[in-house]
Amino acid sequence: MKNHSKTGLQWLKNGLLMPALFCLAAAFAGSSALAAQAQLGAEDMACQQCHDKDDILVKKTEAGESLSLRIPTQAFLQSMHSETSCTDCHEGVDGKDHGKVATPMKSKRDYRLSYQNACTTCHKKNVAEFKDSLHAVLVKEGSDKAPTCSDCHNSHTLRSVKLVEPIANVPCANCHNQIFRAYAEDVHGLERVAKGKSAPLCADCHTAHKIQAASLGDGIKDACLACHKDSVTKHEVWLPNARQHFEAIACPVCHAPFAQRRVNLRMVDRAGGKQIVEKKGVPQFERLTRAADGAAGTPEAGLDSQELRSFLKEFNLEHPGNKTILSGRLEVRSGLQSHQLSEKEFALKDCKVCHQAGAVPFVSVVLSIADQDGLPLLQGVEKEVLTSATSFGSMRGFYAIGSTRIKLLDYLLVLVLLGVLCVPLAHMTAHRLFKNRRDQRNAERQKASPAAGNGAL
Ligand code: HEC
Ligand code: HEC
Ligand code: HEC
Ligand code: HEC
Ligand code: HEC
Ligand code: HEC
Ligand code: HEC
Ligand code: HEC
Ligand code: HEC
Repeated sequence: MKNHSKTGLQWLKNGLLMPALFCLAAAFAGSSALAAQAQLGAEDMACQQCHDKDDILVKKTEAGESLSLRIPTQAFLQSMHSETSCTDCHEGVDGKDHGKVATPMKSKRDYRLSYQNACTTCHKKNVAEFKDSLHAVLVKEGSDKAPTCSDCHNSHTLRSVKLVEPIANVPCANCHNQIFRAYAEDVHGLERVAKGKSAPLCADCHTAHKIQAASLGDGIKDACLACHKDSVTKHEVWLPNARQHFEAIACPVCHAPFAQRRVNLRMVDRAGGKQIVEKKGVPQFERLTRAADGAAGTPEAGLDSQELRSFLKEFNLEHPGNKTILSGRLEVRSGLQSHQLSEKEFALKDCKVCHQAGAVPFVSVVLSIADQDGLPLLQGVEKEVLTSATSFGSMRGFYAIGSTRIKLLDYLLVLVLLGVLCVPLAHMTAHRLFKNRRDQRNAERQKASPAAGNGAL
């Protein structure tokens, strides 16, 4: 902030400079609107003599780009940084040679990256939050597309982050343009435009600085539920055990009516329930899935249950510490479609869409692990894996490796076996009815075969 870090020497320098610069400033002010503001410090005013001229300073980078060096004084004074001095961020600017001797600049991106630490002194919290985000990790690994602070905030012109008007000014739109366009026309985007601020923008669901891969963890679901507080109660009126459905189904699966859906078998650590991350420098997932896939032939179709089993076995052998299990989840196939949420009248309510043999959402199945950045790596899996419990030789083996049950699959299979044809029933009846029938059937199966007593895959 202005002056708070200045040394005695600088004060002295300013003291001497001040009168001269004051005259200069006055002259400047005479011809512009600056007089009214008169907030620009003397030192900053000196910078602006060159940096806010009409004949715009332009610098050529070695990559051949043109970088305008013009900093509009008016906009700077109206920005949230108006109380901050140029030199608070531009410590390196040397008084004597500056502007006279051209210094080479590799590229705009390179220059921007050189300012990565410029915000730390004043915004510790944001810097700390950002550090572990997916974006920051990508930058660290050399991505030339992932954002640093300056890609989302213009230090010279920034207004309050609360003022995002029109919504197209949201920084995320620069890089995730297609998603932005989908969002702008979905129920939240339209609501936001029509009625102002209450509906979420990107950061309300993803956070601004702690962004992680969208399909990782429960962060987004928790954000939805933080605004839609009574969701569980409201869904439970017609959906038995809504909480459990929420665990196993991403909200857009039902709320983006035209979405294509799929099952994602996420690899998680049994002990912590956390998603397994591919080891650095060891493309283990790809190597092992390829090896497993090759074993029985049909690579296009993806892993069959045998291959999936041998993959998991190999993977666990190479990961002696933790036991990997699969945790199934229904999700939307395309990132765009996750942002085409619609009004509640259009939401998916028909139980048969999911609870029926051959249900479409279960025709597409992938196996996934988080890569080192946190982004998901996907491997196709044959859909029969979900129902292969009927051949219980492979099921037992499967369970032996994962040594726990795949919850999602259990329920699906139970439901398929029962042939539950669910018409929306009053919640209590449906729930009790289902539970009784399931218990009964489980008991019968247990008697018939101890292996199937596992609860089925
Ligand atoms: C809050 C920090 C901050 C303040 C205050 C600040 N700058 Fe900057 N400035 C930056 C950052 C960060 C960059 C890096 C490039 C980018 O992304 O814009 C930059 C870039 C520049 C550039 C290169 C052109 C460009 O836009 O990238 C010029 C010239 C410049 N600043 C001049 C100034 C002047 C003159 C002032 C005072 C009137 C000032 N800056 C105040 C942070 C700041
Ligand atoms: C005498 C005119 C003049 C003054 C005064 C001046 N600059 Fe510059 N500035 C330039 C020119 C010319 C360049 C381009 C130099 C080049 O091509 O390498 C430049 C470049 C820059 C850059 C771009 C990065 C770089 O290093 O090339 C920044 C940032 C910057 N000035 C900040 C400031 C700040 C902050 C002040 C006040 C403390 C200031 N300037 C005062 C003329 C000036
Ligand atoms: C991917 C884009 C993006 C990046 C990168 C980013 N920000 Fe932000 N930042 C935002 C958005 C969007 C908001 C508004 C959040 C909100 O409305 O809750 C924000 C809010 C802020 C705020 C004000 C609110 C608060 O939390 O105090 C500050 C200060 C800030 N950012 C600083 C930084 C700094 C410093 C960095 C670099 C370490 C950074 N930002 C990186 C997008 C970004
Ligand atoms: C010398 C201290 C200082 C530095 C360095 C600094 N800022 Fe700030 N920043 C401030 C002050 C003061 C505010 C005014 C709002 C406040 O009180 O938090 C502010 C406000 C902001 C806001 C708007 C917050 C809001 O509530 O809307 C953002 C975004 C922001 N800064 C980003 C950055 C980024 C990005 C950098 C690094 C390129 C940076 N700042 C460097 C002092 C600083
Ligand atoms: C209402 C909450 C919400 C808002 C607002 C929102 N998103 Fe999303 N976003 C999601 C959900 C949900 C997913 C999918 C998560 C999953 O797979 O479970 C997602 C996924 C993503 C993905 C990953 C896409 C992929 O290919 O897998 C990106 C990138 C993304 N969002 C960016 C944005 C941007 C940029 C904005 C603003 C224009 C935005 N989101 C606004 C909820 C939101
Ligand atoms: C400078 C460009 C840039 C900006 C600005 C930016 N992103 Fe990203 N973002 C990326 C890149 C590059 C990736 C890496 C994955 C990819 O290519 O989609 C990414 C990935 C993501 C992902 C994870 C995608 C997945 O598959 O799950 C999410 C979520 C995301 N961004 C949200 C946001 C949000 C929200 C904002 C605004 C606050 C934002 N991004 C701003 C470049 C950007
Ligand atoms: C199995 C499909 C399904 C899932 C999963 C689902 N919803 Fe819904 N949701 C619906 C249906 C259908 C309605 C409309 C109910 C009605 O007719 O009243 C609805 C209604 C809503 C409403 C409007 C409530 C009201 O009555 O005002 C909100 C908000 C909502 N859902 C949010 C969510 C969130 C957040 C999630 C994820 C945590 C989610 N939904 C998961 C199907 C689903
Ligand atoms: C920042 C708060 C906020 C977040 C986060 C949020 N929403 Fe909303 N949502 C709203 C507001 C406000 C509306 C419009 C008013 C209303 O109907 O409640 C809305 C509307 C909806 C509607 C339409 C309801 C109807 O009556 O037709 C659905 C469905 C919905 N949201 C689902 C979601 C889902 C799914 C997520 C997470 C992916 C989510 N929302 C995240 C605030 C939020
Ligand atoms: C979008 C797909 C989908 C829709 C629509 C859907 N379900 Fe489910 N349902 C699932 C999945 C997936 C599970 C497994 C949840 C788990 O394992 O955690 C499940 C589990 C269940 C369970 C077992 C939960 C428990 O208490 O143990 C019942 C009962 C059930 N659903 C009934 C219904 C009824 C009734 C409807 C219609 C009103 C319905 N479902 C609509 C996908 C769906």
